[in-house]
Amino acid sequence: MSKKLFIQTLGCAMNVRDSEHIIAELKDKENYELTQNMGEADLILINTCSVREKPVHKLFSEVGAFEKAKKKGAKIGVCGCTASHLGDEIFKKAPYVDFVLGARNVSKITTAVNTPKFVSTDINYDESDYAFGEFRGSAFKSYINISIGCDKKCTYCIVPHTRGDEISIPLNLLLNEAKKATSRGAKELFLLGQNVNNYGKRFSSSHEKVDFSDLLNRLSEIEGVERIRFTSPHPLHMDDKFLEVFANNPKICKSMHMPLQSGNTKVLREMKRGYTKEWFLNRALKLRELCPDVSISTDIIVAFPGESDSEFEDTMDVLEKVRFEQVFSFKYSPRPLTPAAEFKNQVDEKVASERLTRLQSRHNEILDEIVAKQNGKIFDVYFEELRANGGVAGRSFNNFLVQVQGSEELLGKTLKVRVNNPKRMVLYGELLEKI
Ligand code: SAH
Ligand code: SF4
Ligand code: F3S
Repeated sequence: MSKKLFIQTLGCAMNVRDSEHIIAELKDKENYELTQNMGEADLILINTCSVREKPVHKLFSEVGAFEKAKKKGAKIGVCGCTASHLGDEIFKKAPYVDFVLGARNVSKITTAVNTPKFVSTDINYDESDYAFGEFRGSAFKSYINISIGCDKKCTYCIVPHTRGDEISIPLNLLLNEAKKATSRGAKELFLLGQNVNNYGKRFSSSHEKVDFSDLLNRLSEIEGVERIRFTSPHPLHMDDKFLEVFANNPKICKSMHMPLQSGNTKVLREMKRGYTKEWFLNRALKLRELCPDVSISTDIIVAFPGESDSEFEDTMDVLEKVRFEQVFSFKYSPRPLTPAAEFKNQVDEKVASERLTRLQSRHNEILDEIVAKQNGKIFDVYFEELRANGGVAGRSFNNFLVQVQGSEELLGKTLKVRVNNPKRMVLYGELLEKI
């Protein structure tokens, strides 16, 4: 009889894909089946995030709850980025945890499950040419990790300490993965990495020379691939070649994530981001010029150590000039192992909250104007999700979430929709095509 696996995934899309790899290994090699019911699981996994302090607290509250409610004899494993940076300290705080498996050690999951108190958190471990089995949480969404780790070492960021140095996955593995996804019926590929447009910088063994633009072109030649999305690209590597491939390849979805972090050049230097306010604006405005329909999303950190009121105003200024379609904004959170956590000039919590509120309110005003302009527009929507309120939702080519009345027969299809009730989070519309 098969054993039951419950897995909870926190953090970013790379963690979602790592969880799919873990599930594939455990299904193929250890005869596990997924369950949504933690109480009946033989193995409970939590795939963790460390990027800010909050998700780390969440790990300990969640495993505590698992321990209380789990079936007798069930094992608990902690995987992912917090596993990488806390390692066996996790056993001290939560002695009932059975194993700890770091974010860069996913292929060792079967050993972890079978070895009491197993710990493996080596951030130099190289599993970039490991061919994982196939498992997808959704038939329509095909995440593909194209690189592991990050070489950038921004001074606030823990990721290089949890996922190690950057290494690209060999092209042949990526092409195979994409072909498998399309043969299952997926029409969209979603490429993932901390710094995707630096793809090809380093492979673990000798490899043909290929960069991110080449990778996009090669993937778009695969039969059945209708759309390609990716995250996160780094603004520093947005050279003209990249922006032109992005604009001119008709299969690349016209939405770009451009993580700003700060609009002030001095703060950017202290963050070690490698670009200036002017470079960022130049790239964003060039992108808008090349692709008038593009939607641009961003990540912003407010109250980085030493950020003054006037430096924060530069971030507000970039917000006005770029008019992002989506903003993910965070208060700076000091992280262990990072240089910025040691900076002496930490910003007062109250000031940080005020800045965050101001940024978010102004973004919402801009967003309301952007959203109102979508009324009456016709979008090609790739439907991929049933919504709780009876609708079906999907993404427009430029990444708006669009929802219509309908049922599961829409899933996996790309259909024309006219927007008639645009809201901040979702554009409601009517289907213009019969299926
Ligand atoms: N590789 C991506 C970022 C991945 S982390 C990039 O370079 O953009 C996702 C986001 O979390 C970051 O863009 C940043 O905005 C935020 N973040 C990372 N470390 C943080 C910290 N210490 N405090 C607050 N936000 C942080
Ligand atoms: Fe972190 Fe910077 Fe790397 Fe992004 S580029 S993962 S923010 S170190
Ligand atoms: Fe979190 Fe690790 Fe992703 S820290 S954001 S899960 S890379």
